[in-house]
Amino acid sequence: MKVTLTAIKADVGSIGGHLKPSLPLLQEIERTVAEKGEGLIIDHALTYTGDDIAILMSHERGLDDPSVHKLAWDAFIAGTKVAKHQGLYGAGQDLLKDAFSGNAKGLGPAVAEMEFEERENEPFLLFTADKTEPGAYNLPLYLAFADPMYNAGLILSPAVGKGFKFTVMDVDHIEGDRVIELCTPEEAYDLVTLLRDNGRFVIESIHSRHNGEIAVSSCTTRLRNIAGKYVGKDDPIMLVRTQKSFPATGEVLAPFQIAHLVSGFMRGSHTGPLMPVRARTGVSFFDGPPIVSCLAFSIHDGILSKPVDAFDHPFWDWVREKASRKARDIREQGFSGPAMLGYHDLEYVGITERMNRLEKRFRVRDMDEV
Ligand code: F6R
Ligand code: MG
Ligand code: MG
Repeated sequence: MKVTLTAIKADVGSIGGHLKPSLPLLQEIERTVAEKGEGLIIDHALTYTGDDIAILMSHERGLDDPSVHKLAWDAFIAGTKVAKHQGLYGAGQDLLKDAFSGNAKGLGPAVAEMEFEERENEPFLLFTADKTEPGAYNLPLYLAFADPMYNAGLILSPAVGKGFKFTVMDVDHIEGDRVIELCTPEEAYDLVTLLRDNGRFVIESIHSRHNGEIAVSSCTTRLRNIAGKYVGKDDPIMLVRTQKSFPATGEVLAPFQIAHLVSGFMRGSHTGPLMPVRARTGVSFFDGPPIVSCLAFSIHDGILSKPVDAFDHPFWDWVREKASRKARDIREQGFSGPAMLGYHDLEYVGITERMNRLEKRFRVRDMDEV
């Protein structure tokens, strides 16, 4: 059967700062999706990572379905009421518009969606990250889909070895969706030229060149483009189908052992390592570090299996220690150099205001003064 997976996430409030949502908030969202989703969606699952709640829904209504998007929107609105009642911090933070207008994209919540003919065995992964940005997935996706050092299937499996088509979006372009399609292996260097710039170029989707099937759908939202100012980082969500003509689940997970440095640590304005954590982990050190969790599902006739928590394994304890060390190392230099983001990616207005004041006090020395 043809099934659609719609994953929508938003931060609508959290306890004690931007740490994690409360149980009553989660329960209200769960209750709303279960009640209003009856007869609309086939199945759903709820998770959170840091202060972001993700709703995964399976259905037969196709991409960008207004009723399915509205279901998630209504659930977040209902959750916001609870968050306000409890005095949670940032209640309703990611719901940037007052009214729903047909699609959750562009209203604040992050969306990843894919439609496909279910295979006989259909495994897929739901990634959710906090205190970072959509481009944080660029490197792990490139390594999992295009680098034989991480994806043994590229040389072992003829289907995987056909390579992949990457669709990349220029998220700085706000007048419309500016996208490019690049195929690996032939255009790998061109692809990497874009993907090095996580703040601007973001992988939107990946398709198999063996059968044209969709493998990856990732969100490309930039909240500041919607709101016109800082309202929190973009905390990305992503769906990845695995096995057979796609990378194996383990090949998709493997690059996360790098705990690579990404943007989004403290006030969305610092660099920090992306730590793979168990689902339903909050944040702590310096409002971070940036975290990513991954739930692995199987789906049949639209019914979701109970998920497996992909980073809940002793191997990842070692990676978490490494990420903590990397976080401490970069934090040792505070505001200096690459520890803090460049002007273009800085959130808040403090530095710009100070710079504007200081600019006026600079003077160019006359040569005869020297
Ligand atoms: C939010 C985040 C935090 C906040 C910081 C200050 O997702 O990353 O680091 O930016 O806690 O928050 P405000 O300005 O709301 O006090
Ligand atoms: Mg937040
Ligand atoms: Mg968040």
